[in-house]
Amino acid sequence: MPRSSLITLTCALAAGASAFSYGAAAPQSSQEKQFSQEFRDGYSILKHYGGNGPYSERASYGVARDPPTGCEVDQVIMIKRHGERYPSPSAGQGIEESLAKVYSINTTEYKGDLAFLNDWTYYVPNECYYNAETTSGPYAGLLDAYTQGTEYRARYGHLWDGESVVPFFSSGYGRVIGTARKFGEGFFGYNYSTNAALNIISESEVQGADSLTPSCDTDNDQTTCDNLTSLMPQFKIAAARLNAQNPGMNLTETDVYHLMVMASYELNARPFSNWINAFTQDEWVSFGYVEDLNYYYCAGPGDKNMAAVGAVYANASLTLLNQGPKKAGSLFFNFAHDTNITPILAALGVLIPDEDLPLDRIPFGNPYTTGNIVPQGGHLTIERLSCQATALSDEGTFVRLVLNEAVLPFNACQSGPGYSCPLANYTSILNKDLPDYTTTCNVSSSYPQHLSFWWNYNTTTELNYRTKPIACQEGEAMD
Ligand SMILES: *[C@@H]1O[C@H](CO)[C@@H](O)[C@H](O)[C@H]1NC(C)=O
Ligand SMILES: *[C@@H]1O[C@H](CO)[C@@H](O)[C@H](O)[C@H]1NC(C)=O
Ligand SMILES: *[C@@H]1O[C@H](CO)[C@@H](O)[C@H](O)[C@H]1NC(C)=O
Ligand SMILES: *[C@@H]1O[C@H](CO)[C@@H](O)[C@H](O)[C@H]1NC(C)=O
Ligand SMILES: *[C@@H]1O[C@H](CO)[C@@H](O)[C@H](O)[C@H]1NC(C)=O
Ligand SMILES: *[C@@H]1O[C@H](CO)[C@@H](O)[C@H](O)[C@H]1NC(C)=O
Ligand SMILES: *[C@@H]1O[C@H](CO)[C@@H](O)[C@H](O)[C@H]1NC(C)=O
Ligand SMILES: *[C@@H]1O[C@H](CO)[C@@H](O)[C@H](O)[C@H]1NC(C)=O
Repeated sequence: MPRSSLITLTCALAAGASAFSYGAAAPQSSQEKQFSQEFRDGYSILKHYGGNGPYSERASYGVARDPPTGCEVDQVIMIKRHGERYPSPSAGQGIEESLAKVYSINTTEYKGDLAFLNDWTYYVPNECYYNAETTSGPYAGLLDAYTQGTEYRARYGHLWDGESVVPFFSSGYGRVIGTARKFGEGFFGYNYSTNAALNIISESEVQGADSLTPSCDTDNDQTTCDNLTSLMPQFKIAAARLNAQNPGMNLTETDVYHLMVMASYELNARPFSNWINAFTQDEWVSFGYVEDLNYYYCAGPGDKNMAAVGAVYANASLTLLNQGPKKAGSLFFNFAHDTNITPILAALGVLIPDEDLPLDRIPFGNPYTTGNIVPQGGHLTIERLSCQATALSDEGTFVRLVLNEAVLPFNACQSGPGYSCPLANYTSILNKDLPDYTTTCNVSSSYPQHLSFWWNYNTTTELNYRTKPIACQEGEAMD
């Protein structure tokens, strides 16, 4: 749908229009189409760098984002990955090794696809920036968090009474906490310093199940996870091309992988990346699939323990939904990492391919496409809908999943308005299907066995602002 008609639709709904409206404004001229017929090849780099690059909305099934007619959201439970960031220190090490090979040749004039190198500099100012969220350019991580906060204020502001103190929750990791704070400033605006109460939940294993980042031993899967980059012939082809254009670099397929990792993060800090153009579309398609394999086998449904890990959040949020806004509260904003969101999706039974992803070819059309699932800033939003009776369904309470702003219906249950699921059905399905985290993952009985911070939170505003400078390559943190 062209952007103009989305805007029209949003405005129509905001103005209280009751009927669904397809319409854009009437065409300006007889040649202007209401709907573009062009989808070209559907290619955007933003869908082919795995989880490394800037946020983009999930490609939707066309289901309207706003609540269905006759329904109102009365509770929202969101978990958001931190915003756009610099590479990790370990990715940085591989990048620097491969860049050193690129720079090892004695030339004042790079040629071919690397001609831009004659006036390019690495976008990471120094090694202390590894791990940090980005603050520059149109795709900056902190900007993403603030912008989404303002968008959620517009969408869910009716769920705050304008007086009460609202807790929100971040795992204990520097960039995650930074994201939570910027989102909070966006959502609460002038009231952030007095009416939001940041709770920081340590990422330590001793939190057991009382965590946004529960862990589980993944040893069994590590051999697959560590050995994915050799799978794609396209990386060899790219290495041969770049070596032929600039003899002496001797890049290998592993170097190409490192350089593509580097390219995929560049937009997080800059408006433009020449490195992205140094690789072909097909090379990016291969790169994206390698990243899909990584998430699927190492943090998603291809790892036999991950549904149990995600069951912690799925089960606790089920309790919130059944208690409802009057008993539990209406707004639950949570902040963690990509690999905390993919287990939750596995536990909820959505985006599961019919068979394990193959290692020897790309199964085009596969639902497990990381760019649609956990780009930087990616988020899963659970909406509780209170609906009047319709021709389709009785008055009642329904649940919808929204992933990166696109509605993601359950396979097993979509009988409610807007393809939502009646809360009672959602509850019975999950109660039957959710694995048990503490037994599957052998969680020590001396650690908490359930998530309880959504009910036992602090209302102090002391943690709302950072008081110390961020540390070099900051990771886990509690302030
Ligand atoms: C690099 O090339 C220039 C010009 O061809 C030459 O003068 C210089 O000695 C070379 N440096 C090295 C380290 O090989
Ligand atoms: C929220 O902020 C506005 C603008 O500063 C202020 O008028 C209002 O009193 C604040 N509400 C609360 C509960 O502090
Ligand atoms: C990695 O994959 C290659 C190619 O599929 C295979 O030959 C090799 O044994 C694998 N290595 C490990 C450690 O699994
Ligand atoms: C690249 O390979 C060539 C031929 O094997 C060798 O002469 C050259 O020293 C290598 N260059 C680097 C930077 O390793
Ligand atoms: C699910 O959560 C409820 C309360 O939030 C708890 O009583 C129950 O034991 C949990 N179930 C599992 C399997 O963790
Ligand atoms: C929902 O639950 C009702 C009552 O148990 C059942 O009749 C119905 O088939 C369920 N619908 C779905 C979509 O699961
Ligand atoms: C938990 O313990 C059992 C029995 O010792 C073992 O078979 C299983 O692999 C363990 N699971 C994890 C995730 O470590
Ligand atoms: C609330 O604050 C107390 C005291 O600082 C701390 O021990 C506890 O972990 C905090 N609870 C949460 C949910 O952050």
